[in-house]
Amino acid sequence: MQVIKSMNFYITTPIYYVNDSPHIGHAYTTIACDVMARFKRLDGYDVKFLTGTDEHGQKVDKAAKAAGIDPQEFTDEVSVRFRNLVNSGENLLNVTNDDFVRTTEERHKKAAQELWTRIKDNGHIRLDNYGGWYSVRDEAYYQEAELIEKNGQKLAPTGAEVEWVEEESYFFDLSKWQQKLLDFYEANPDFVTPKTRYNEVKSFVRGGKEFTEGALKDLSISRTTFDWGVPVPGDDKHVMYVWIDALTNYLTSTGFPDTDSDSYKKYWEDADNIHVVGKDILRFHAVYWPAFLMAAGLPLPKKIVAHGWWTIEGEKMSKSLGNAIAPKDLIDDFGVDQTRYFLMREVPFGNDGNFSRDAMIDRINSDLANNIGNLAQRTLSMIQKNCDGVVPQCKAQSAESSGLLGYIKDVFKDFDIADFRFDLAIEKIITASSRANEYLDEAAPLKLKKEGEMKEMGYVLYELAESIRQIAITLQPFTPIAAKKILLQLGYKEADFDNKYGGVAFEQLAAEFALKPGVSLPKPAGVFPRFEVAKKEAS
Ligand code: MSP
Repeated sequence: MQVIKSMNFYITTPIYYVNDSPHIGHAYTTIACDVMARFKRLDGYDVKFLTGTDEHGQKVDKAAKAAGIDPQEFTDEVSVRFRNLVNSGENLLNVTNDDFVRTTEERHKKAAQELWTRIKDNGHIRLDNYGGWYSVRDEAYYQEAELIEKNGQKLAPTGAEVEWVEEESYFFDLSKWQQKLLDFYEANPDFVTPKTRYNEVKSFVRGGKEFTEGALKDLSISRTTFDWGVPVPGDDKHVMYVWIDALTNYLTSTGFPDTDSDSYKKYWEDADNIHVVGKDILRFHAVYWPAFLMAAGLPLPKKIVAHGWWTIEGEKMSKSLGNAIAPKDLIDDFGVDQTRYFLMREVPFGNDGNFSRDAMIDRINSDLANNIGNLAQRTLSMIQKNCDGVVPQCKAQSAESSGLLGYIKDVFKDFDIADFRFDLAIEKIITASSRANEYLDEAAPLKLKKEGEMKEMGYVLYELAESIRQIAITLQPFTPIAAKKILLQLGYKEADFDNKYGGVAFEQLAAEFALKPGVSLPKPAGVFPRFEVAKKEAS
């Protein structure tokens, strides 16, 4: 039996800019964090899962102005679109976030100002004049040398427009942190995953292959040309640069600046705290954020996990192509479990991925409907019809290590999502289910019945039902609705899900929790319908 751990696990999504409409890229990060949060709860961890919206900065200010409304009113209105994806609203993605931070909340402003004050008091902020390039779309400063030229126009390396800004600004002494950051990366080789991204971050801070002193420039961290931001403590003319404000959200939710609070201690000081981000915002999380925290004298997160980007039917998602897919459309068409499953199954975390309807339909039908769904439906209806709807007797050694159950026990041994490889964890589930389907065909319980081998038939059906129980337990983080339905059909009760694990804990994969012969089961119903292309696509 697995030992229950007392470890604390804190996982965060980036906070989303409210001016954009939610799309599949946003849904992806949020679902990945939810799968991990659910997984860790089921594994006995004390979990905190945070998401939220990034509501300050010039980009949002401009969008509010374009809409002709006050930025506060604008953000109140549009942040709802992101809240509705999660547990703080309609919960379209069926996720289990424990909090939702908006950077316009008082608790957050307090946290951001306290972080600033600590950094300033430690002597790392000075007032100076800034002259340089700024991209509103990226909310990022660029050096002349980083810019690219297109049709005679200077652009950011990301292709975004840049403008020349000159203003009085507070500066953070980032240049002084080069060696300390490099030492930190060296001492914590797992700080950034995947490894390629870790190397990329290190190389950026070193200034290339050869160490270049001064590769990191001091960072302008306040603006005076607009006022939509957190006021700089003691100097209301300035608002904070949106990234120092935004990154602080991870602390806000733990109760910071109350560093004596239980939740700060538990989830910031004494947790496996992990930020999951897209590759485009890795530099902010793996370079600026640790430097800010070191300068403030605060502990650093344990890990930054960077994922790739999704394209749609082979094309980059873009406003001009109008090809962004809203999570709601996907869920309405395919179902929430199916959407979660596809996004987690399709790409090895860290790689870029491509969304195509054909691939989605193929996964739904081959993995969920034909494989897992069919196995459950066939087995449970055979038990219903041929065993009076009661869990049949098992062979004395069934729950031990022989035959199908022995095989499945091996597949699920140390079941884990190592290195955020959701695809590999799912592969294990599919391997188990495929083997069970093969066994069903080989052992042919209905043939045994015809031959009058009722006892043998019962043994086979028991092994299959117990395999399905284990498959459903491991499926819970990925497709929570269907997994629960299957478990209810195997005799579990609502109360078995309403607990600190958020479901049937992984420790119950063990043989001592195996199905009990004689327990009567409710009538089965299919959980993973086939996606019928002709019917759906024609409508
Ligand atoms: N507000 C900042 C984050 C601040 S965190 C302290 C921000 N917001 S964002 O809304 O522009 O992006 C949020 C996340 O969505 C990023 O991690 C980004 O990588 C991700 N994605 C945006 N488009 C994406 C795809 N096409 N595919 C996958 N993820 C994508 O940046």
